[in-house]
Amino acid sequence: MIIAIDGPAGSGKSTIAREVAARFGFAKLDTGAMYRSVALTALQRGVSLDETDAVAELARTISITFGSEQHGNVSVFVDGVDVSDAIRTAEVDRNVSAAAANPGVRAAMLAPQRLFAQDRDVVAEGRDVGTVVFPHAELKLFLTADPRERARRRVLQRHEGQIVDPAVLETEIDETLADIERRDALDSQRDTAPLTCADDAMRIDSTSYTIDEIVQQIGELINERR
Ligand code: DC
Repeated sequence: MIIAIDGPAGSGKSTIAREVAARFGFAKLDTGAMYRSVALTALQRGVSLDETDAVAELARTISITFGSEQHGNVSVFVDGVDVSDAIRTAEVDRNVSAAAANPGVRAAMLAPQRLFAQDRDVVAEGRDVGTVVFPHAELKLFLTADPRERARRRVLQRHEGQIVDPAVLETEIDETLADIERRDALDSQRDTAPLTCADDAMRIDSTSYTIDEIVQQIGELINERR
């Protein structure tokens, strides 16, 4: 069974996919981590993200694999090297949309994504998993959330376990909001596989529900469709 979860940054996809994977025994496929890995490798090798052919070639030749779960996150490897932390830096954030908009990169990611889901139950999260990668997924969700709430979640996640001055938090939320809106625009307006809700996806606004409520609802749908 395949569950496809799409939506913009900070809409709660990763948290929900992680919970679904843990509670119902699905393998989690983080497709964003794959685009991040391509962007990171290009940066490391000094290949400009504007050099579309060179970046596509790089995407075709590197091997991106997933390891075991650590602190609720699945580790990511490029050619055997653990890049789990390196793909989450601000520099990769700034460059990943260009990698993800490259049609050659997207084409290179399709086969490994589908292979991952060949012999097991998978919950896949991304921007096009319900529309392009797994158009026949048994269950499709499109998660949204108020943009400021998404920015707030990102900032709180960054400072998890720390005490931070509320004024500093507000400034960071403003900055993150601008970044989120820029990335949403790039991801939704690109020509190849833009972020869009599949016709047969359930649209859920995660601002109005707790993670637990959404996961419970998914659990009911899994039981119905199994
Ligand atoms: O979900 P994320 O923030 O880790 O995604 C990183 C980038 O990759 C983001 O700009 C959107 C893009 N992406 C994509 O284009 N298609 C996917 N299936 C997943 C992510």
